[in-house]
Amino acid sequence: MTFRIAVLVSGGGSNLQALLDAQASDALNGEIALVVADRADAYGLQRALQHSVAAACIPLKRPRDHAIRAAWERRLANVIAAFEPDLIVLAGFMRVLSPAFLERFPDQVINQHPALLPDDGGATVRTSAGIEIPALRGAHVVADALRLGLPITGCTVHRVTPAVDDGPVLACAETPIQPDDTEETLHERIKIQERRLIVEVVQRLANDA
Ligand code: GRF
Repeated sequence: MTFRIAVLVSGGGSNLQALLDAQASDALNGEIALVVADRADAYGLQRALQHSVAAACIPLKRPRDHAIRAAWERRLANVIAAFEPDLIVLAGFMRVLSPAFLERFPDQVINQHPALLPDDGGATVRTSAGIEIPALRGAHVVADALRLGLPITGCTVHRVTPAVDDGPVLACAETPIQPDDTEETLHERIKIQERRLIVEVVQRLANDA
């Protein structure tokens, strides 16, 4: 049985591209069955179509309206379920998914986060050199790492639980911060690691399935 993967994106989709490239060279041991975006201008949709992968845009127009958001999420879940994925990868998907969504796909959702996270939901994380740094959560963690003057940051792939930017860690990689780093230069170096890591994790989960 083919291991089927759905990838959710909100932006450029360079991590999705790494997965598409791995699939194109038969290195994924799985099939990207569907790409979904929550916005029409997400370039990840084009990347999917260029690889003949089904792509859907399910826009969320009024995210603060509870009823509209719940209906959007049900629609999103219905579309994903129709493609019968074994794994759902949040690859730069900038929406928090509710417990109702996660209950529908138990243990199937993984997320990429551009900072180091601990396995225990704690407030700090220890680097390989034994330095304790804050566990950065939220949508601005690359800027936060610079603002806090951290010597090192990184990226994490973790299983998604109802707690935001939490859940068992599947893999992580460290990225030292350079004195002249800007948010852009640092994020790009983190993303080089992220692209490698997400392919490794998906390969591993596909092999273990
Ligand atoms: C990555 O840094 C990911 O960790 C974060 O959003 C970024 C997505 O990059 N959640 P891309 O769209 O795959 O280039």
